[in-house]
Amino acid sequence: MTENLKPVSVKTFGKMKENKEKISMLTAYDFSTAKYIDEAGVDSILVGDSVGMTVLGYDTTVKVTIEDMLTFTKAVANGVKRALVLADMPFLSYHVSKEQTILNAGKLIQAGANAVKLEGANDFILEEINHLTKSGISVAGHLGFTPQYINTIGGYYIQGKSYENTLKLLESAKKLEENGAFCVILEMVPEESAKYITENISIPTIGIGAGKYCDGQVLVIDDILGKYPGNTPKFVKQFANIKDIIKETAKNYNNEVKQGIFPDELHTFYLPEEEREKLECNLIKSY
Ligand code: KIV
Repeated sequence: MTENLKPVSVKTFGKMKENKEKISMLTAYDFSTAKYIDEAGVDSILVGDSVGMTVLGYDTTVKVTIEDMLTFTKAVANGVKRALVLADMPFLSYHVSKEQTILNAGKLIQAGANAVKLEGANDFILEEINHLTKSGISVAGHLGFTPQYINTIGGYYIQGKSYENTLKLLESAKKLEENGAFCVILEMVPEESAKYITENISIPTIGIGAGKYCDGQVLVIDDILGKYPGNTPKFVKQFANIKDIIKETAKNYNNEVKQGIFPDELHTFYLPEEEREKLECNLIKSY
């Protein structure tokens, strides 16, 4: 699907909400995957700090650094023509000072991201978001379950599970909007709560484990491909089984190498006949 090559911008997100057109987002961490996702017509690619778990093999996203994010953002941006590239600001890259936040966000934008994503909405984070958006850097918020705070949350729990907590989430979402965020990710929130929030803010909500009423949906590419070796949460729909394809392909390759079947004639370069003859004569002489 390459016919609509008009790049997706933060404005497009707003228009899509107005027009009740669903926004699709997937994570990607490398050039070729990003290219295929873009060509498939997905509206936005999130260079998520989930890269720490899917690519780097960490147990949480907390160990991901700004340097890691810069490498993966560059790779993704090189593969994308249309989709909006959103890059996660990793743990502690926006908590120290306004100066450091703006420098780190600026590096991600210079690496090719169109916008950055920050988790949470306490007063400190809201100030950072305000400063970033006033400096010309588009920001997405992230509420509900916020993986970077796993050590203070204490586990992978559904958020906003009561009327009061839903109202608190809505209040946070409104503050994100007031401070300039162009969209908000809602992670692991009951469908009714996500619907209520979606209907009461003007910026789009992008859900992950937040039901069908959000303005858009995001999932981790490794999860939908069936590639991640760890547990996958209830909200993930696995659309393929790449894990088995990789294992089967590697097994076949291994067998062919061990048995001398690969490389065969089709996959081999040969000398021109006269050069081969010279070589053979020389070989005979040297015996
Ligand atoms: O890092 C990530 O992939 C994310 C999604 C879970 C929204 O933040």
